Amino acid sequence: MSSLVDNLRSEFQAALTAATSVSAVKAVRDQFLSRKQGRVTALLKAVGAAPPDERKVLGAQANTLKQEIEAALDAREAALAATEAPSGALDLTLPGRVPVLGRRHPLTQVRERIEDIFLGMGYQVIDGPELEDDWHNFEALNMPQEHPARDMQDTLYLASPVRSEGPRVQGSEGPGVRRPDSPGRPATLLRTHTSGMQIRYMETHQPPVRIIAPGRVYRRDNFDATHTPMFTQVEGLVVDEGISLGDLKGTLNAFAERFFGRPLRTRFRPSFFPYTEPSAELDVECQGCGGKGCALCKQTGWIEVLGCGMVHPAVFEAVGYDADRYTGFAFGVGIERLALRLYGVEDIRMFYENDLRFLTQVAL
Ligand code: DAH
Repeated sequence: MSSLVDNLRSEFQAALTAATSVSAVKAVRDQFLSRKQGRVTALLKAVGAAPPDERKVLGAQANTLKQEIEAALDAREAALAATEAPSGALDLTLPGRVPVLGRRHPLTQVRERIEDIFLGMGYQVIDGPELEDDWHNFEALNMPQEHPARDMQDTLYLASPVRSEGPRVQGSEGPGVRRPDSPGRPATLLRTHTSGMQIRYMETHQPPVRIIAPGRVYRRDNFDATHTPMFTQVEGLVVDEGISLGDLKGTLNAFAERFFGRPLRTRFRPSFFPYTEPSAELDVECQGCGGKGCALCKQTGWIEVLGCGMVHPAVFEAVGYDADRYTGFAFGVGIERLALRLYGVEDIRMFYENDLRFLTQVAL
């Protein structure tokens, strides 16, 4: 009978060694100690049925075994519980989850880059309405009603009239000027360029003027690789006594160098805008080929960057500036066009499709 006790002890040892988890230890406990089917429970019952002379010794042996088993199970369970993480607990060794950071849209980045350059040269950044009237968008810019230059831009007109406002200047609120709409004219339109901001600013401020005005503009264009009916420009205007073409060239050369991040060749090509005289377009040496000619610059070696010129005296007259005393220069940059060049993007529509695969790739 005592060999029965020894057999059970070694069976228990084997079962305990094989139990490597808390739940496995529990199963072993059931197997040996459960009240109904436990192996030790059965042994104790068998002791009761043994002949009286053996009963005392056997009983003592069986009880000792039971205590040994209980102690071994408790120890083992405690040891395993200490190493096993309870379900749902924090695992501090896991690598952290990196949050997905948003980023500024590439067109915003280009606009801010332009703003930073001009802020560094002492310009103020101003903002104004996208709904515009005929006076600010055309007439005061030396484009009277039948002027052929109006056809350069396909205008989107609105039915209801809009009230004129003064420009909003960052930091200081300029007073608004109200100008009655001329009778018989289409009163309200979506501005086709930011040049109207020149007028709005000069109507409410006296020289010296040194401003840029970024913003959305609208034209009746269909979507294709190089056109969208809405796009973004930055207008620039400098007016003071003695401002010369040399100031224009120096300023815009400095801008181009800072924008593209290195010294590069530029050229001012004669052009025409009704609100400047003389007018020019600024080209910079192509980024893709360094001026040798490639697909990006259509083999010309040059990339067109902006339109500019010396403010036309008729514009000064329209805003009540003394054209004999003051001179100035103006320019208009297309942000999308610059962004296309800077990022080597081939289709302008990419900037408006909000495809994260595209947006997360382009960064300055
Ligand atoms: N308004 C012109 C455009 O939309 C750009 C421009 C050209 C602005 C010459 C100017 C300028 O201020 O002087 O294409």
